[in-house]
Amino acid sequence: MTVPLTTAARDALVARLRAAGCVYAEDEAALLAAEATDPAALAALTARRVAGEPLEQVVGWAAFRGLRVAVAPGVFVPRARTGALVDAALTVLPPAAGATVVDLCCGTGAVGLALATERPGLALWASDIDPAAVACARRNVGGLGTVLLGDLDAPLPADLAGRVDVLVANAPYVPTGEIAHMPPEARDHEPRTALDGGADGVDLHRRVAAAAPRWLAPGGHLLIETSVGQAGATAAACEGQGLAVRVVHDEELDGTVVVARRPGPAGS
Ligand SMILES: C[S@@+](CC[C@H](N)C(=O)[O-])C[C@H]1O[C@@H](n2cnc3c(N)ncnc32)[C@H](O)[C@@H]1O
Repeated sequence: MTVPLTTAARDALVARLRAAGCVYAEDEAALLAAEATDPAALAALTARRVAGEPLEQVVGWAAFRGLRVAVAPGVFVPRARTGALVDAALTVLPPAAGATVVDLCCGTGAVGLALATERPGLALWASDIDPAAVACARRNVGGLGTVLLGDLDAPLPADLAGRVDVLVANAPYVPTGEIAHMPPEARDHEPRTALDGGADGVDLHRRVAAAAPRWLAPGGHLLIETSVGQAGATAAACEGQGLAVRVVHDEELDGTVVVARRPGPAGS
């Protein structure tokens, strides 16, 4: 792939992208040209981008922690800040190979994929309620784990109960009333089920926290991505389930994670 562009064609493409509001128009022009198979394909990709579709959905992939993660149209685009969730999970993963990790609300599967790539040998389970996300996650996770379709933990096999070392969730946490104020790329091109966290944004966090004790091994951890403003409510949901909670904030990634531990000695 790669459509060679004359300087004039490249400048025209950059100008068109810039006029459509693309801040990094030069980089985007180079990426679109690199991804297109021929001039007609470049025109089609450009039209989609100019119409406001997220760049990652247009080109079909997103960069996440150095990985190329497939992103289908209509599926949530993994955000760089979610790297904070991966980093926090890596710090609590048992050192021995073979730890069991569950990625709830997995979307493209980016979080589980990053964990399985950065810590080889994990037993990874992921799930999502959206069939388009599950199809995408299956492509991304491949043989590194199992991706299931269903509501939160409902599709997990019963024999995982009490055996999960790390349960991660980047569930929707935008308060319903704030969705209208999101950038159009998210509001118009990512499904509402991927964004809407209910009145205070923490509905799904409460459900994840309520489900977690059934699955976590003694000493196992639940990690939930949240925001600075919502961290208190997310933490309270976890504390209400008898978990010991701390909040981690990564300034550089602007990511906030509630880390909640099930009491008990790890490995028991
Ligand atoms: C904010 S996106 C995050 C996706 C992915 N974890 C990531 O970080 O890129 C939230 C995801 O939760 C899924 N979701 C929403 N409600 C769900 C539910 N009740 N059960 C399972 N998945 C759900 C959506 O389909 C969406 O893929």
